[in-house]
Amino acid sequence: DDNRFSQKLTVPEALTFDDVLLRPKESRVEPDAADTSTRVSRNVELNVPVLSAAMDTVSEAPLATEIARQGGLGVIHRSMSVEETAEEVTEVKRADELIIRDVVTASPEMTVEEVDQLMGRSGVSGAPVVDDDNEVLGIISGTDIRPYIGIAEDDTVREAMTDEVITATEGIEAREALELMYEHKIERIPIVDDENRLTGLVTMKGILSRREYDNAARDEDGKLRVGVAVGPFETDRATAADEAGADIIFIDCAHAHNLNVLDSARDIKQEVEADVVVGNIGTREAAEAAVDFADGLKVGIGPGSICTTRVVSGAGIPQITAVAEVADVATREDVPVIADGGIRYSGDAIKAIAAGADAVMLGSYFAGTDEAPGRVITMQGKKYKQYRGMGSVGAMSEGGGDRYLKDADEDEEFVPEGVEAATPYKGSLESELHQLVGGMRSGMGYVGAETIPGFKERAEFVRVSSAGQTEGHPHDVMITDEAPNYSPQE
Ligand code: XMP
Repeated sequence: DDNRFSQKLTVPEALTFDDVLLRPKESRVEPDAADTSTRVSRNVELNVPVLSAAMDTVSEAPLATEIARQGGLGVIHRSMSVEETAEEVTEVKRADELIIRDVVTASPEMTVEEVDQLMGRSGVSGAPVVDDDNEVLGIISGTDIRPYIGIAEDDTVREAMTDEVITATEGIEAREALELMYEHKIERIPIVDDENRLTGLVTMKGILSRREYDNAARDEDGKLRVGVAVGPFETDRATAADEAGADIIFIDCAHAHNLNVLDSARDIKQEVEADVVVGNIGTREAAEAAVDFADGLKVGIGPGSICTTRVVSGAGIPQITAVAEVADVATREDVPVIADGGIRYSGDAIKAIAAGADAVMLGSYFAGTDEAPGRVITMQGKKYKQYRGMGSVGAMSEGGGDRYLKDADEDEEFVPEGVEAATPYKGSLESELHQLVGGMRSGMGYVGAETIPGFKERAEFVRVSSAGQTEGHPHDVMITDEAPNYSPQE
């Protein structure tokens, strides 16, 4: 009888990705027709429900820029100074801006040869010519320079430039700029103030590249969206990121159900205009404690590929259960949920959404891409990039130990909750994301749901035995060619 056992051992079961599969359902949804748009926080929508992890081997401005162009959201890590955080935000916000602010300019006294070299070095094919007061005198381009090359390279820019410049003022829109460019057969328009001083530049190349990214995550001003991780008590970083234009502030903590962390997150929410996502949590109770003020909840206690939290601390919740518990509460309050960590395949990502997440966050999946920080290393003929947990000794000694609520006391040895590793080099983020989202769309097709909210309602799980798991991976064959979306698990 039950009395032989302690009540302590009457425990609920918690499930993770490999324990479940999506039950296939009647469908008329072709994967390509599936709409992956979603909401990651109360006020931020994305066309692609994918975020990159706030880790120093994953998300800095280059990756955040590219993932936003592709429709997702990058979350800048916080192992840097507060000023650097603001600069990273600015870099993403400026990336695809209609009006370029860091304009390469020439002075009228430069020689043609000098300006030719300057343009080569800065990778531009033309430059406004300005005087010492930044007043626009003309514009010079490769076409103006060419007749001088080899003949009169010492001639000045003043002689070679075009001095009838078409300029525009702040507030010009892409369509107007293009019309002006066609009309005057020009490729760049200096933007000036009412005293004809240069404030920016609009280029044809810029307008066309913005058009290429029609799925991009953009704010109301058309700038790319970006998220920023801040420590649980870092009000200064939060306000700096907010002033720089960050769209979402992510409270970056391994255990956000700590009440001091929640108090501080509440204060930070009062200080910023951006949405505030609170994490990480993994239980219904934690969700209840944060849902009244958070603009989003991020779930994941120890599922990450580089995490040792569960081994070191003995605490954690397998991710499918964690997401489902938090989503029960969050859905009631209409607050979005992000599933963070443990996603190895596109199938895991769409299972997280089936469990109730609105979007997923990945670290290891993106760490091997070109856009992630760090260089490619070769070991035994194979290419890798570095990937490390933010709770690893290496990452914590460079700041951010407070994520694990640990004092960064110089004299004491860290008790890490993560490892430092290498991950296979993968090439472009665009192709990785294409595989990920393509697989997620397939899942939507199998379940017969055309939208993410529809999918969340319609999806049902079946429980998988370990024999079922083995059956689900390639088996009894030797893989001869690498697939772009599958590598066997060690
Ligand atoms: P994946 O599985 O995508 O997980 O590589 C990324 C997420 O893991 C979390 N993270 C950590 N968790 N120790 C941990 O316990 C760590 O050192 C660590 N570093 C990152 C984080 O939530 C990230 O988004």
